[in-house]
Amino acid sequence: MISSTQQRVVGQPLNRIDGPKKVTGTAAYAFEHSLDDVTYAFPVQSTIAKGRIVSVDASAARELPGIITVLTHENAPRLKPQNNPELAVLQSNSVAYRGQFVALVVAETLEVARQAADAVVVRYEEQPHRVVLRADSSDLYKPDHVNPNYETDTASGDVEAALASAAVSIDHTYTTPAYHNNPLEPHATVARWSSDGVTLYDSTQGEHMVRDIVAKAFGLEPERVRVISPYVGGGFGSKGTPHPHVILTVMAAQVVGRPVKFALTRQHMFAVAGYRTPTNQRIRLGADHDGRLTAIAHDVVEQTATIQEFAEQTALPTRMMYAAPNRSTTHRLARLDVPVPAWMRAPGECPGMFALESAMDELAIACNFDPIELRIRNEPTVDPETGHPFSSRGLVACLREGAQRFGWQTRDPRPGRHSDGRWLIGTGVAASTYPTRRRPSTAIARVDREGRYSVLIDATDIGTGAWTVLTQIAADALDVPLERVHLEIGDTVLPRASLAGGSMGTASWGTAIVEAARKLLARLQEEHGVIPAGGLEAIGEGGENPEAKRFAMHAYGAQFAEVHVNIDTGEVRVPRLLGVFAAGRIMNAKTARSQLLGGMTMGVSMALHEESILDPRFGDYVNHDFAEYHITTNADVGTIDVSWIDEDDPYVNPMGAKGIGEIGIVGTAAAIANAVYHATGIRVRDLPITLDKLLP
Ligand code: MOS
Repeated sequence: MISSTQQRVVGQPLNRIDGPKKVTGTAAYAFEHSLDDVTYAFPVQSTIAKGRIVSVDASAARELPGIITVLTHENAPRLKPQNNPELAVLQSNSVAYRGQFVALVVAETLEVARQAADAVVVRYEEQPHRVVLRADSSDLYKPDHVNPNYETDTASGDVEAALASAAVSIDHTYTTPAYHNNPLEPHATVARWSSDGVTLYDSTQGEHMVRDIVAKAFGLEPERVRVISPYVGGGFGSKGTPHPHVILTVMAAQVVGRPVKFALTRQHMFAVAGYRTPTNQRIRLGADHDGRLTAIAHDVVEQTATIQEFAEQTALPTRMMYAAPNRSTTHRLARLDVPVPAWMRAPGECPGMFALESAMDELAIACNFDPIELRIRNEPTVDPETGHPFSSRGLVACLREGAQRFGWQTRDPRPGRHSDGRWLIGTGVAASTYPTRRRPSTAIARVDREGRYSVLIDATDIGTGAWTVLTQIAADALDVPLERVHLEIGDTVLPRASLAGGSMGTASWGTAIVEAARKLLARLQEEHGVIPAGGLEAIGEGGENPEAKRFAMHAYGAQFAEVHVNIDTGEVRVPRLLGVFAAGRIMNAKTARSQLLGGMTMGVSMALHEESILDPRFGDYVNHDFAEYHITTNADVGTIDVSWIDEDDPYVNPMGAKGIGEIGIVGTAAAIANAVYHATGIRVRDLPITLDKLLP
């Protein structure tokens, strides 16, 4: 544990150390790495959702000047089998979803590659497809587990009996649409083979993860694959696993014997870079006259793809959020001819808490209880699922602090009572949570003869501030000023570390860095403080957290929203949001605030704007660009007040940091939906809350 007296830079609102490089355009993103003799790839995508390729005629494409090759399933090199069939690109003639890559053109310029891809004629034998998620479908199935490895269903007590005898109960179904991750930097990979193996510049959330998968697919020793990714323009989960373009780029570079660059267009991303599954969530709550929950049931139906299973853990937060003696959660999947769903910011918690926190609001109204008071009344003393104590649990503190800051006390709970001209005004609240985890990582700390420190770890900064925060952690752990520490991240030549995902980057990497620093200082002490000519080095391992077996570990938050709804148009405005979080010790007040602001902004987007619209005739998403896939922009965001409570959790990791990458988005949409109800008396259970749902 770093004692707080030692802490000099951790916690401070420091500017990003990579900021000057970003604003001067010298931070090179994957596609920007310039390589001699480079070539460009552009894909051909399937125009059917299910079936097989009968023929590929690339003769016209091959005649274009500047064309180098056209890869198809007929001539592509064979890959080694691995456990994700989606990555077995160009290995067979079968088509599992519309938009799947069925050929790849490599050319001297991007323009020629794109033109040639258009000239490739693919003939298909089309089979009937099923692409629409229906909760009442007869062939839903129960997956073996839900992501990353949780029980599919849980049950304790007798939910049905408790609901039947409850003084107050509610039973509602909430739905969320498909959403697509849209990091500002689209996915891109550059690959170059040499006698040593292959080097990739990839826009990824985890270089070592990409290395392992590429090595496996091409039958290489992992040491022969190097992945470099110092700067990444956002990921949000969609770069948390490699998508087919990564394999295709490496394959193409091997075939043409020259470096290949492959950047997905925004449109490509809507088929091949993952998305959040649509969900259908039935929530049943039973309570006694005092507003104490007697039963909680959360039944989820969502989709997966035929080519690869992805089972989102949507009901997970319902397992630990509130006390109730009778409880159950289930997940059922529809296997459809669709692209493979994937990770998207706060997978599980984000859509799951929209449903649960909307339902809690509905229960509060049914019980005639204040919704904050209802939540406090159902605060569990131990994790209801495991019986473990919480390492720390700041939900009530967040709700109370938030109520104060937001001015909740003066709220008239009756809906539709408050207006300003033609605008109805309402306020809403919802709780937020996200698990606190960490994964094994390794770091090296070094000091040279001149007293300069370096810290080496294959961490990844996807725009979150990891460059800065890890330098802060290292400086304090080494007990030196920030300027004396040189950090290296984003390259598989550095010690192996876990990926930037699951809000566990700082926790995982920081644990390894603190350990490496501790060992280096011990070595220095052995040398009586005299650095030998060759310098000193120490390796720190940050393993799984042994305390995770004894404690339930989660971050919490309270989200408050004020909405204005136009009586004539149904337009919803969100002039004011407040988020109060309890996420352990905050490592950098500025980058943390940015993370939470970004999450809450995405929450506004989820509540009001985002929706991937499927065309059932073809099986793909039609609004596949920023003109039609609406996301919240500056004009949609009013005041966002982000704050946190001081939380000292000695069990999570040596820094006491719980992770802040995802909790900001959790609960925001429910707070807004609850506020819309308060403004209008209309309960929208189907996101997004668009005008049509509020007009008569
Ligand atoms: Mo996040 S969806 O764990 O990258």
